[in-house]
Amino acid sequence: MAAGKSFNPGVVVVAAGRGERAGVPEEGPKQYRPIGGMPVISHTLSGFVEWAGASAGIVVVIHPDDEALFRDALSHVRQADGIQFVYGGDTRQQSVLNGLEALERANPSHVLIHDAVRPFFDAPLIERICAALKAGDNAVLPAIAVADTLKQADAHHMVAGTVPRAGLFAAQTPQAFDFAVIFDAHRRAAAEQRFDFTDDAGIAEWAGLGVRLVDGLADNVKLTFRRDLAMADEKLSQNLIAD
Ligand code: CTP
Ligand code: MG
Repeated sequence: MAAGKSFNPGVVVVAAGRGERAGVPEEGPKQYRPIGGMPVISHTLSGFVEWAGASAGIVVVIHPDDEALFRDALSHVRQADGIQFVYGGDTRQQSVLNGLEALERANPSHVLIHDAVRPFFDAPLIERICAALKAGDNAVLPAIAVADTLKQADAHHMVAGTVPRAGLFAAQTPQAFDFAVIFDAHRRAAAEQRFDFTDDAGIAEWAGLGVRLVDGLADNVKLTFRRDLAMADEKLSQNLIAD
């Protein structure tokens, strides 16, 4: 981190997706479905509130149709008064950009950008990420070494080859950045009509930034399919019994 610059991170939580892979649209967007007795996003936001390090604030990016669901989810979060929301866009990338625009007013030094549907991050993970920012990295990515053997298949589900997994990592969030640097990269990508980035580290790479890997957390899964939500609910119910 540049000398004399104070560490004043903000958080953007993206929650404007429609959750198509989770199916069952009548149960609503996955980020508002209950696990362990409250909406997924309530767990996620509680994690950031408990961390207490987001000195520039927390901005949640929601879908305009979800305002009532979001307000209900906030009612489960203690000390939710500092949490703001803005509307998202058609892609995750656009939703992040809307969140960055809202956060800019708080003059953050850095930003942590997180998927609402990853409720299981923990404080040590956030600390690893912040330590890298404080050490001067402009872009930090938590990731896990790929454990499974990877196969490439053709359109007929016939294996076309084995991909060597050495040096391959699965990316997680929160991904964290120098605020001005990632905001500029996002705006440049949009100006160049590049809307195909599925994560923010991808935009940082495109912009030529060095992206630092830190150890991710196996539990920090992205709830994508209905079975992920069922497993998350099960896990939290067992924890409650164990307490
Ligand atoms: N997201 C968003 N705005 C979008 C698309 C996604 O804010 N236009 C958010 C989602 O709400 C989620 C995160 O980005 O918290 C990760 O995206 P993903 O898991 O792909 O969620 P969805 O896009 O909702 O799901 P799907 O791709 O299955 O439709
Ligand atoms: Mg998606």
